Amino acid sequence: MTTARALLAAASLAAGLALPLAASAAEGQPHPPREKWSFSGVFGTFDRAQLQRGFKVYREVCQSCHQLKIPFRTLSQPGGPQFSQAQINALAAEYKVQDGPNDAGDMFERPARAADNIPWTFANENQAASANGGKAPPSLQLMAKARSYERGFPLFIVDALPFFQYQEHGADYIHALLTGYKDPPAGFTVPPGGHYNEYFPGHIIAMPKPIATDGQVEYPKGPDGKSPVPETVEQYSRDIAAFLMWTAEPNLEARKRTGFMVIIFLAVFAYLMYYVKKKVWAKVGGEAEGLPGTAPLGPTH
Ligand code: HEC
Repeated sequence: MTTARALLAAASLAAGLALPLAASAAEGQPHPPREKWSFSGVFGTFDRAQLQRGFKVYREVCQSCHQLKIPFRTLSQPGGPQFSQAQINALAAEYKVQDGPNDAGDMFERPARAADNIPWTFANENQAASANGGKAPPSLQLMAKARSYERGFPLFIVDALPFFQYQEHGADYIHALLTGYKDPPAGFTVPPGGHYNEYFPGHIIAMPKPIATDGQVEYPKGPDGKSPVPETVEQYSRDIAAFLMWTAEPNLEARKRTGFMVIIFLAVFAYLMYYVKKKVWAKVGGEAEGLPGTAPLGPTH
């Protein structure tokens, strides 16, 4: 590398470091803190009990406004909350969906079945928006992948490396959003219908604090009659964030397994190739040595 190129590289590294820092400081928008998740890392898997609790939070809190466009039966698939078929059938039957037209040409309502999408409380976006001060609550199934942020140089490079790969920004964000309702700082006026949230871009969100109090959702009790995890706003927020990570990436576990097998395969393959190369070239080099008029073809050791 010439001196000029080295200088250029150093300058762009410095700029890369300075720019994101300057940008985030200017916006005054803190990054969601990085949480610990069972599904991070190469060997990460979802915690079934956590996904089941997260779904309970969805049903009892978020569902009154948000939509989750997944069929009931997905909730019983491997890699997810893995509710039993009987649980799914019972769950679906609690909802009504519109079907039809029947023979007389009329639409009718019937209990939902496992193959139906989980129905939405609202008939359409407009109705949802008018019930929420003009902002329709977005569908949540892809939210954990849709909301991400870059951690800025140099951490975004670390996040992309296979063994440190970090893809949990979306779950961090949802957890931070749900626990990020605060009193606005002095001098900050919150418009009517808005709520101050530390982590929402621009800080003013139309969603009122959805999980307001500890004990709001009752968790399944263990053999000692107590819930194995705390029934707190903090825990509810973690569980729903994990659940929404699963709805956004239902095949995460299979993908990680495949990725790991590929790494093992490449390591074994690389070793084999190295071994073969040594063998082949050792022979060619040896034979070539000393033959009149033949130049050595490879390393001679
Ligand atoms: C009272 C209705 C209501 C409830 C209950 C509710 N939300 Fe919302 N939510 C909204 C509205 C309205 C918006 C749109 C906010 C905006 O754009 O200002 C929203 C937006 C969001 C967003 C997107 C934020 C973004 O970055 O755009 C997420 C994530 C979210 N809600 C998660 C949840 C979760 C998880 C729950 C359940 C624990 C929940 N919400 C419960 C009304 C609700």
